[in-house]
Amino acid sequence: MSALLGRARPAFGLPGRIQEANSKPRSIALVGLGEGGAAIARRVAAERPANLEVHVLSKSARAGDTVAAIQAGGGDLQRDLAAADMIFIVACRGDDVGLAPVVSGIAHGRKHPVTALYIVPSDADGHGEEDETLKTLRGAVEVLVVASLDPPYLYPDYRSTRLRSPRQPLLELPEGSFDVPGPLVPRGFVRDKDNDLTAHGKGAPLGEKMVLVGRITDEGARPVRDSLVEIWQANASGRYHHPGDNHDAPLDPNFLGIGRTFTDADGNYRFVTIKPGSYPWQNHAFAWRPQHIHFSLLGNAPVQRLVTQMYFPGDPLLAIDPVAQSIPDAKARERLICSLALETGIEMVSLGYRFDIVLAGAKSTPLGL
Ligand SMILES: [Fe+2]
Repeated sequence: MSALLGRARPAFGLPGRIQEANSKPRSIALVGLGEGGAAIARRVAAERPANLEVHVLSKSARAGDTVAAIQAGGGDLQRDLAAADMIFIVACRGDDVGLAPVVSGIAHGRKHPVTALYIVPSDADGHGEEDETLKTLRGAVEVLVVASLDPPYLYPDYRSTRLRSPRQPLLELPEGSFDVPGPLVPRGFVRDKDNDLTAHGKGAPLGEKMVLVGRITDEGARPVRDSLVEIWQANASGRYHHPGDNHDAPLDPNFLGIGRTFTDADGNYRFVTIKPGSYPWQNHAFAWRPQHIHFSLLGNAPVQRLVTQMYFPGDPLLAIDPVAQSIPDAKARERLICSLALETGIEMVSLGYRFDIVLAGAKSTPLGL
């Protein structure tokens, strides 16, 4: 989730050039400021995307020299900013963005508006509190996008995102577009035992039986009530019950890997399932996914559907998993890991785990995986 905080400024006299919806930019400049912004910019640059010039002005750069070089007018940065149709600055909380006004100054001199992408901190208390980074960016740019804790659309190490990430600038939908009430999910959609994935066959599935509980809350810690929660997962051998999965691991006739339930009046859900196995995928050679369970949360309209993935504590594959690592913030990544909660298990039968989900705010659960 992200918030677009547009600021009304005079148009830059470029009618029909960059303001035109869906126009294809000829050239984009991305400037990473500070350590966090530099890291993001470097990851983007590693992909050598077309029509994109990436510059990194990290904290380690000597600001005075950089400013002098920019102002001298001979640097690549100035040339690229002059040639760009769209200019972005990216930075994270705490980053030194003292050069943002300089970058904007060059852009404005050529009547180019600048958009800043600011990564929201995951450990901030309260909302709307501005740090120096955000204040500086706000004063330096025309459009400020407070980026989310969610993974970016394009994360090159996660190969699928190269194909599915947007190639055109996103369009801002009219206010209220997402408030269209959809048909509520009828109670009958969820049948008895749909939340027990171990009860769908003629016998017990193979693997380590587990109970998974959690609570879904909104930004204000209010429960998300009577909302459809669906999960899907591989079996204990790491294979999905799906024709598209040709992993050389056995199918389990007693495990389909699909479950659904409604949250109760306090936002709680509960599933009984099998701990999923890891499986190889074709992201790169020897790539294996950490054990995970997919989640789909349906609000009160289909356009509100949210998806994410839950992981398990201590999984050594997590640190090298491009899907999990596409979340820019380490603390946010940790919020996708369930916790052992023995007392929620079934005595002498199954382990118990807890996975709470927060839909929005500084402590939100990363979504969009
Ligand atoms: Fe999966």
